Amino acid sequence: MALWGGRFTEGTAETVFALSRSVHFDWRLAPYDLRSSLAHLLTLETSGLIEKSDAAAIRGALKELSVQVQSGAFVASDGDEDVHSALERGLNEKLGVLGGALRAGRSRNDQVTTDLRLFSIDHMLEIARQITLLQIAILEKAGEYVNDSAPGFTHIQHAQPVSFGHELAKHAQAFARDLDRINDWLARTSVSSLGAGALAGSSLPLDPEATANELGFNSVFANSIDAVSDRDYVAEALFIFALIGVHLSRIGEEWSLWASTEFAWAKVSDAYSTGSSIMPQKKNPDMAELARGKSGRLIGNLVSVLTMLKALPFAYNRDLQEDKEPLFDSIDTLLLVLPAVTGMIATTDFDRDKMALAAPLGYSLATEIADYLVVKKIPFAQAHEAAGKCVALCEVDGRQLHQLTDVELTGVHPALDAGVRSVLTVHGALNSRTTHGGTAPVLVAEQINVALKNNSASMAQITSAQARFSEMMSA
Ligand code: ARG
Repeated sequence: MALWGGRFTEGTAETVFALSRSVHFDWRLAPYDLRSSLAHLLTLETSGLIEKSDAAAIRGALKELSVQVQSGAFVASDGDEDVHSALERGLNEKLGVLGGALRAGRSRNDQVTTDLRLFSIDHMLEIARQITLLQIAILEKAGEYVNDSAPGFTHIQHAQPVSFGHELAKHAQAFARDLDRINDWLARTSVSSLGAGALAGSSLPLDPEATANELGFNSVFANSIDAVSDRDYVAEALFIFALIGVHLSRIGEEWSLWASTEFAWAKVSDAYSTGSSIMPQKKNPDMAELARGKSGRLIGNLVSVLTMLKALPFAYNRDLQEDKEPLFDSIDTLLLVLPAVTGMIATTDFDRDKMALAAPLGYSLATEIADYLVVKKIPFAQAHEAAGKCVALCEVDGRQLHQLTDVELTGVHPALDAGVRSVLTVHGALNSRTTHGGTAPVLVAEQINVALKNNSASMAQITSAQARFSEMMSA
């Protein structure tokens, strides 16, 4: 069903309808469209524009339609252009001409962006919940390895030994920032656009503030032209999703490396691995690779919407219909990837001995020698030079730093006495890294506790926001 046509003498060309049609992807806005229609109905009723008895009939039909949409008893048909026209057809089938009464003072322009805001908020909350679950998996896994050492890397070269719990827990910090961003986004997105009309507001006695309140928005638009053209919340959501994708891809890369035969640190569980159709021995970390690979489409969806918005004239232009598929795709992608990565992390075991043996390799304790000399008041540049000489000596015959003789050590620098041996152990190196946020196991344990506490607070906040949202939806 079309929502226009009075001034047209010719029917729409088939190609035009095909290109115009969005109901095959915007149908998922139906529950939000029905809910915002109830709010709009209330404003029309309160202002006396619709008789109480008519309003009751429309309200009953909207609620019935909601149930039918949910059960699948009412679906869009081939002739429906978009979700709004499909639902108005549904109302007309129940109410006859009265079904068209809701269009007073409302345009699809303010309607569609109101629906999309509600949809986005609902799904953003679910993504936030999935992120807190992922954080728990990361932090609990990190907690198992606080006292296990492993090489820490820069340039994928052994740099300094670290607590493997520290190595894992770092990911929880990235996701904490994502949750922060989501919170900021929620505050900025909670603005109702309903009442902006096509672009100029309305001559009818509507009450946009009451409608906003009814739909659980924190505030109402300030400028009706901006209200129908603003898709910042879509672009911002897509940026948040793209960055979450990037964070997931970095986990994916690590897991793939650590599961390789060369590293052999990670044993990814069977449930989160896949096999090869030709090589019977293969067990591949495909979830890690998909987490890495999916970041491409998450970034692509952001670029797609920003490009669509660039230089777009204000108020409504049909280009804006292109906001939905990228947004839906990013949300669907994350809701698939997040639980899979959470499960993969929770069920991976690490080879503690192998990581501990690797920790001092690659002269990763050389900084300890330099720091030892600094404590003895040797300027760092000289200390660095001396530690470098120790490495050079070891490289000649493939020894480790602690295997240098006392004579060799004092030969490199007179202040390098045998006392240095006490810091030339991985254990000593880890325990000495006690500055704020460092890798000393006591600090790592504390860091994990604080992160878990913040996580519980986020979880409680998300749960209550989700409860408020579903209460609003079921009104
Ligand atoms: N399907 C349209 C969209 O998604 C709804 C708004 C149509 N508005 C219009 N003036 N043609 O953007």
